[in-house]
Amino acid sequence: MLAVVPLFYQDVLPILERKCQTCHREGEAAPMALETYEQARPYARGIRDAVMRHTMPPWFAEAERGVFGNDPRLTEEEIATLRRWAEAGAPAGKPVAPAVKWTEGWRIGAPEAVVRMPKAFAVPARGEVDYQHVIVPSEFKEDRWVTAIEVRPSSRAHVHHAVVFVRPPKSVWLRGQPTGELFSAKGQALAGLSTLDEVIAVYLPGAEPHVLPEGHGKLIPAGSDLIFQIHYTANGKAGEDRTQVGMVFAKERPRMRHYSMSIAQGEFEIPANAAEHEVEATFVVNTHTEIYALAPHMHLRGKSMRVLAVAPDESERVLLDVPRYDFYWQLVYRPRRPVRIERGTEIVVEAVFDNSPANARNPDPRATVRWGEQSREEMAVCFVDFLLPVPISPVELFRAPRLGGVK
Ligand code: HEC
Repeated sequence: MLAVVPLFYQDVLPILERKCQTCHREGEAAPMALETYEQARPYARGIRDAVMRHTMPPWFAEAERGVFGNDPRLTEEEIATLRRWAEAGAPAGKPVAPAVKWTEGWRIGAPEAVVRMPKAFAVPARGEVDYQHVIVPSEFKEDRWVTAIEVRPSSRAHVHHAVVFVRPPKSVWLRGQPTGELFSAKGQALAGLSTLDEVIAVYLPGAEPHVLPEGHGKLIPAGSDLIFQIHYTANGKAGEDRTQVGMVFAKERPRMRHYSMSIAQGEFEIPANAAEHEVEATFVVNTHTEIYALAPHMHLRGKSMRVLAVAPDESERVLLDVPRYDFYWQLVYRPRRPVRIERGTEIVVEAVFDNSPANARNPDPRATVRWGEQSREEMAVCFVDFLLPVPISPVELFRAPRLGGVK
């Protein structure tokens, strides 16, 4: 075969558009845009190295390609194209207009409702910042089914991540706190949190907004409040942020409800210097359901995570295997097809921590580490999005005694 040299516009740009520009464009998470020849050219060798080392695009699940619908990994052919292009001196080729037009602003289209933090938070230049919360009434007079939702910080440079919860009128969670004011619940953020309260949207750098499939929705009951929980990080420059959330609603009642919950273990102590300390969280599912997405969450000592489904007949299935967890990449893993879960299945989350000095990111190997919000503390959590046929209530997922089996 003739070894034709790959050209930027003809061969390289389509790969960057498909696999890189979600993050590598103006205003997004990556440090440089890769939208034009002029932008990409100086990085040709860096691009080659990153794709050959498989560090870009970021992806940490051990799984065949095709298991996860949002698996961004390049094919061998795409890697070879980028490598050969860089090694041939990064030729431009004949300019063509970009095939992908990224929208400025909202990526879910024009939102039908926007809820904003009532005031901006002043992010200091330095120091640890407690998680900030703010309660904002939705002012929805009737139940609303959300089909697309997007969280937009105004200062992406300061928002490490943000979570938006729905607090229905019956919930007692954070009732002692004022509405419309920023507060840092000082370790009490989860007090009173119940199955009524739900994560409705998350902002993570580089992540896609939540756009649900046809016929799917997330419920915001009438009269609910939205509670923003934002992790700001000081980056040397002081700034301000006023995060907002935009929503698009279903025209009719959806068939399937998305319900997000965390499977977590808060009772643990990671001993000083422990190189491989396992913490297990389990949850027995009380109804037939499906899993739509999984997102592991640990901090700087997080080493690996596996999530298993143990069916009532004891058969085991690996839902997610992340052998090298990386705190700086909070990724969501979405199976190509929702995974069926039989009633009585136990979901087992195995979180492994490295508190030894060999972990280059370890803030202090001499510390005994417990649950906490700051990155020097730890969390052992997997966020799981379940699917339930409407009108089955998410309460049906809970209260399950283990039917028969282990433990
Ligand atoms: C999910 C977001 C995201 C995607 C998708 C992504 N990048 Fe990146 N990339 C980043 C961020 C953030 C950084 C800077 C932090 C870092 O280096 O880890 C980065 C850094 C880089 C760097 C410089 C550092 C290094 O690792 O050499 C290169 C080169 C790069 N990306 C190329 C690519 C290419 C090529 C693709 C597509 C094949 C891609 N990236 C896809 C977010 C992304």
